[in-house]
Amino acid sequence: MSTKRVLTGITTTGTPHLGNYVGAIRPAVAASRSPGVESFYFLADYHALIKCDDPARIQRSTLEIAATWLASGLDPERVTFYRQSDIPEIPELTWLLTCVTGKGILNRAHAYKAAVDRNEAAGNDPDADVSAGLFMYPVLMGADILMFKAHEVPVGRDQIQHIEMARDMAQRFNHLYGEHFVLPEALIEESVATLPGLDGRKMSKSYDNTIPLFTPRDTMRRLIAGILTDSRAPGEPKEVEGSALFQIYQGFASAEETQALRQAYADGIAWGDAKQALFERVDREVAPMREHYEDLLAHPERLEDILQAGATKARRLATPFIQELRHAVGLRRLSAVGGPAAPTATDKVALPSFKQYREKDGQFYFKLLDAQGKLLLQSAGFEAPKAAGQAIAQLKQSPAQALQALHGQWHCAEGVESDAVLAALTALSPQD
Ligand code: TRP
Repeated sequence: MSTKRVLTGITTTGTPHLGNYVGAIRPAVAASRSPGVESFYFLADYHALIKCDDPARIQRSTLEIAATWLASGLDPERVTFYRQSDIPEIPELTWLLTCVTGKGILNRAHAYKAAVDRNEAAGNDPDADVSAGLFMYPVLMGADILMFKAHEVPVGRDQIQHIEMARDMAQRFNHLYGEHFVLPEALIEESVATLPGLDGRKMSKSYDNTIPLFTPRDTMRRLIAGILTDSRAPGEPKEVEGSALFQIYQGFASAEETQALRQAYADGIAWGDAKQALFERVDREVAPMREHYEDLLAHPERLEDILQAGATKARRLATPFIQELRHAVGLRRLSAVGGPAAPTATDKVALPSFKQYREKDGQFYFKLLDAQGKLLLQSAGFEAPKAAGQAIAQLKQSPAQALQALHGQWHCAEGVESDAVLAALTALSPQD
């Protein structure tokens, strides 16, 4: 398979803003059009349940975010665009991965650790108000990624640890059950802009300083008018460095347009005029998409059809793959018992073995069998089982010396050379 698989999930909480658009949505849509790439985009609504217990908000958010991506140009014919909760194979895979994930690894996940640290700082029980869902977040995310054998996962820096955990799960599973998963890599886009918000800090829901991408035109104008500026009067030259207004403009404008605004700053453009320029530039890009967005919101059944078609496409891969994985771990039809088990990395290499036993004469004996069960060596009789056990231990520990030291207490089986005995014992002796 030469095409590269790229997959990313969008948690369905909150309303997308200009920062999300410039920093994530627009570059992702552009990347999904490049040749040689097979893209998977999905609405991570199981993940949303970890953060939100308001059913109406979950549903509304899913609707808005799906509409946002489609209105921003994501082509559901070209990519696989689906809703996580339409793929029942994902929670099933989550369980298989849960069973190969160390609890200690999850203890170290940033989001969980941060919650525990907060509790401890506040003098509370470390796990107060921490759901098992938050704890298991990385495993669910691992299932999202590994299910579709993604090579690259574009994410923000805060998600790198989760991708590393998904790699660990894949490696551990492959080691135990054979090569089934592709090891994914995080793709961090260094060049995309982070937009500042209304107050100049990074635009983010948590700072409550956002400009929603598809807010009505008038609200957009009003919000832009509220962006923090300094108190320089019209005619006074203005700095572009540290100007939130300028940076947002740059997120939308071409190099020439940006250069023109830079010049206007130097020439002392009034803040009111700069804000109008920003509004017009943003509106030029957003207005046609907004129309499409509003149309989709007005027809949720169309969106639903698109998501169902996406789920069908995704499950064409997920359904046979989960069958393969079920078989690999031993969740099989009982009638398939006779079928050959695929060899796995942990299949023990067959080794020679010792057997101890007591004869009718009351003495204790041992014999050495090769990997196939053929007799190689037979001991003489020992008075006590302990003495026989010690002889075995000696033979395992340092075969050549022990064979000499125990001279007369063993003999080779018929037709067996002592070299073969020594080789078998060496296979059992501890390696250094
Ligand atoms: N955790 C991701 C975020 O908060 C969302 C997400 C869920 C995701 N599953 C994923 C991202 C799988 C990439 C791949 O941004």
